[in-house]
Amino acid sequence: MIKNTLTKAFSDQVNKELYSSYLYLAMSAFAEQTGYKGIANWFFVQAQEEMAHGIHMYQYIVERGAAPAFGEIEAPPTTFEGIHDMFVKVLAHEQDVTESINTIATLAMKENDHACYNFIMWYVDEQIEEEAGVKDILAKLTNFGSDPGFLYNLDNELASRVFVHPFPNR
Ligand code: FEO
Repeated sequence: MIKNTLTKAFSDQVNKELYSSYLYLAMSAFAEQTGYKGIANWFFVQAQEEMAHGIHMYQYIVERGAAPAFGEIEAPPTTFEGIHDMFVKVLAHEQDVTESINTIATLAMKENDHACYNFIMWYVDEQIEEEAGVKDILAKLTNFGSDPGFLYNLDNELASRVFVHPFPNR
């Protein structure tokens, strides 16, 4: 059975993933309201991914024979300065998530729980991808964000993102 320290860490991470989903839904709603339907789509897909992460971690806690602890999910901000501001906040948020994923990996090592370590390593890799994707969009926004033509094209580009369930067989 999984140790209490790891159950607590995973439970807190479930909360963070659900908060992430909530945050990205709030950002999707803001983008919708400001007329950026493609960007809204990108955030909506991101919200679905985060929900899948939270549920995946929940299932893992249960599978390992422990009871997850459910805490309150914080309300996300609902207004932003604009598209650039949202992506600045996404990057900061994902960097924070990376920190907590790394903390779980360190704890799993300390507790000599190789199964947990193996499980969390998927998320270590996932965070590299997530941060890289967001950094790429943010760099473009920083360089060209004042050009309406660029924003129009970015909105079209992000409209094509589709949700692919990261764990289709679970
Ligand atoms: Fe599930 Fe974006 O971390």
